[in-house]
Amino acid sequence: MKTKTLITSLCFTSVSVAFVISLLSCGTVKRKNFSILTKEAEMTSIPEYMIQILGYASLAPSSHNTQPWRVKIISDSEFVIQSDSTRWLPKVDTDNRELLLSIGAFWENLGQAALAFGFEAQTEILATNPKDTNILKVKLIECPPQEDNKLELMKTRTTNRNPYDKKDLQPSHLDELKELLPDHLTYFPRESKEGEWIARSLIEANRKQAFDDEKQKELAEWLRFSRSEASKRGNGLTPEMLGVSGIAKFFWYSFMSKKSALSESFRSKGVEKVKNQVNNCAGFIVITSDDISIPSLLQAGREFERLALKCTELKIAVHPMSQLIEESPWKEQLEDSFGLSKLVQFILRVGYSKEYPKPSIRRDVKEFVIHE
Ligand SMILES: Cc1cc2nc3c(=O)[nH]c(=O)nc-3n(C[C@H](O)[C@H](O)[C@H](O)COP(=O)(O)O)c2cc1C
Repeated sequence: MKTKTLITSLCFTSVSVAFVISLLSCGTVKRKNFSILTKEAEMTSIPEYMIQILGYASLAPSSHNTQPWRVKIISDSEFVIQSDSTRWLPKVDTDNRELLLSIGAFWENLGQAALAFGFEAQTEILATNPKDTNILKVKLIECPPQEDNKLELMKTRTTNRNPYDKKDLQPSHLDELKELLPDHLTYFPRESKEGEWIARSLIEANRKQAFDDEKQKELAEWLRFSRSEASKRGNGLTPEMLGVSGIAKFFWYSFMSKKSALSESFRSKGVEKVKNQVNNCAGFIVITSDDISIPSLLQAGREFERLALKCTELKIAVHPMSQLIEESPWKEQLEDSFGLSKLVQFILRVGYSKEYPKPSIRRDVKEFVIHE
């Protein structure tokens, strides 16, 4: 195990991660303020509204926080959203299903942010294969700006991996969520038969995945064991995001490295954490899609993000737990176990939490933008 000195760990510099939004900070990593943003717009010759819109889009959730998008600028009003193959997760996401869900979430934020800045994002799906590079072509058309709380919700939405209260979702909240996704949302309270099955199976599926060397190595590449690496890369999973705090966080940053993620104790602690998570929640929301076509997966990603923003508004904590959809035999049993005719794309642990984590790290817009 690589040992770092205490001094090194405490003398970290708060390197600012370049970004669009002025007021946000995320524990150890700061985001860029507006004046720097303007300079950046000059530097990159991208109109400032486009940097803003893309910055908000990139606040979307993505598996392992890989942020698997790249944006190729065509003109002041047109760009192509691409899939960045260096950010694929071939071990846990063999068919790029989660990649398309993540890009769908990016699309949802993009559309909402564009409206707030006075543009309609007209979009054409280009991809015909999940491994295609060009996913979506976007054209921004001017329209009156929409005034609502969407930008604020995008800034505060976060994946909450803390244990939640055990009390069930309020019926009025559940009604609002169901209204948002009438065809694709099912809720199973933790104490229901299905809730019990999900909780039990998630523990086993997580154990299976944690002790799969290839998958654990893939995850380790996205775990951030130093603050400077987190700041420099602006992606991946920090202990703050994973709900690791206090002395455990001190050990994480001081004494641990990617290699530690492969130790027996690290893997077992991860499974213990999952037990605590699934036993402390209101229940599970399942989001389905009509089929596994590219438009349907992108749509499921959009619907997930729409739901996550609504949950942020209602102060309902959300935590995607994908291992049942990734691992056999559970992935083959899902629809039958839930009595669903549509295909399961997300399993979300939900509930009310005492603690809502700070927004997680992101790359600078200029890190994922290229010019034609
Ligand atoms: C398709 C998809 C699958 C995900 N699966 C998991 C998961 O299995 N476990 C987990 O803890 N988080 C999961 N997440 C949440 C991401 O890790 C999270 O969005 C990312 O780290 C960025 O953090 P944020 O949501 O707080 O912005 C998933 C997100 C997406 C979009």
